[in-house]
Amino acid sequence: MNAPAPGMDPGNLALSRKEDFRAFVHTPRRLQPRVLSRAELKALPAAERSAYNRERRRWHANLGPIRTPQLAALHEDLWDIVDSNVQDGDKAKGAVAVDAFPGLGKTTAVLAFAREFHRREIAEQGEFTDRGHERWPVCRVGLTGNTGMKDLNRAMLEFFGHPGRATSTAAQLGLQALDCVLSCEVRLLILDDLHFLKWRRTSGIEVSNHLKWIANEFPVTLLKVGVGLADKGLFSEGETPAETVLAQTARRTTRLDMPPFTIDTEAGRRHWRQLLLALEQRIVLADSFPGMLADDLSDYLFARSTGHIGSLMTLVNRGCQRA
Ligand SMILES: Nc1ncnc2c1ncn2[C@@H]1O[C@H](COP(=O)(O)OP(=O)(O)OP(=O)(O)O)[C@@H](O)[C@H]1O
Ligand SMILES: [Mg+2]
Repeated sequence: MNAPAPGMDPGNLALSRKEDFRAFVHTPRRLQPRVLSRAELKALPAAERSAYNRERRRWHANLGPIRTPQLAALHEDLWDIVDSNVQDGDKAKGAVAVDAFPGLGKTTAVLAFAREFHRREIAEQGEFTDRGHERWPVCRVGLTGNTGMKDLNRAMLEFFGHPGRATSTAAQLGLQALDCVLSCEVRLLILDDLHFLKWRRTSGIEVSNHLKWIANEFPVTLLKVGVGLADKGLFSEGETPAETVLAQTARRTTRLDMPPFTIDTEAGRRHWRQLLLALEQRIVLADSFPGMLADDLSDYLFARSTGHIGSLMTLVNRGCQRA
């Protein structure tokens, strides 16, 4: 049951269900369309040309993930942390928070990691647990706007397709989620866009306590992804008594950053250039030439994206489309 269902279209995945996640893990990378010259393009019959153009559009919209220095560094840290988190179930494990501004590639990098982790665990330990349950090394939950504790628990059950997700109370939902996590031997729990959690005063403590409960009871490495988590007090040391409680979570969490590209230093400029060179090779346009991005457009692209990879990829995608 390793292959994705036939006809599964990677453009149509949601990743909030385990089956979709598996399809994501096992879909082979897209094949880069061949570069055709203008003459070749002209010679194509209309139907084939539009098929070719559609393929190119999809290709340009899904470039990557490119192994940027930020992504490589994040993966290295994540491997270290996840692989050192092999304490027995009775001890709380360390948690990780990837905290950076929007559009710097957090989700992309974390999902690429989850994909590799899933593959490695399944390859080493098999598709089923000793008790005969399916093994799901990774559980990934993307939060929606203003999620409360109950919604968070429900989203975890949703990932596993648990039938109890419709009815129960928050506490029951939590226990059912724990049950799924234990049965399926989940090792990595990813909470994406964690800043969506309701975070006002009392619920800030509630959230922190809930995360603490997950860290204590679930034998998983908790990987939190979000924007401005530090400002939400997730890592604060705590001065008032209320904040001291928050420190419980703070102490266990390793904070990882994803910086934007910069051009103030020699090394920074080199990384930026390498990214553009890597991108160039992936662009499928009739008149593309080496140096098109890296030499001719380097400054322009940096000014427009201010080093944020999300903006850069959007620009490149739209530019290719226009061309
Ligand atoms: N390593 C990469 N290679 C290629 N494209 C990338 C890479 N990292 C990010 N991108 C592109 O940048 C866009 C934004 O990335 P992503 O969604 O991962 O950012 P994010 O930090 O999670 O943003 P947000 O905080 O808004 O959730 C993605 O659509 C993706 O196409
Ligand atoms: Mg994201």
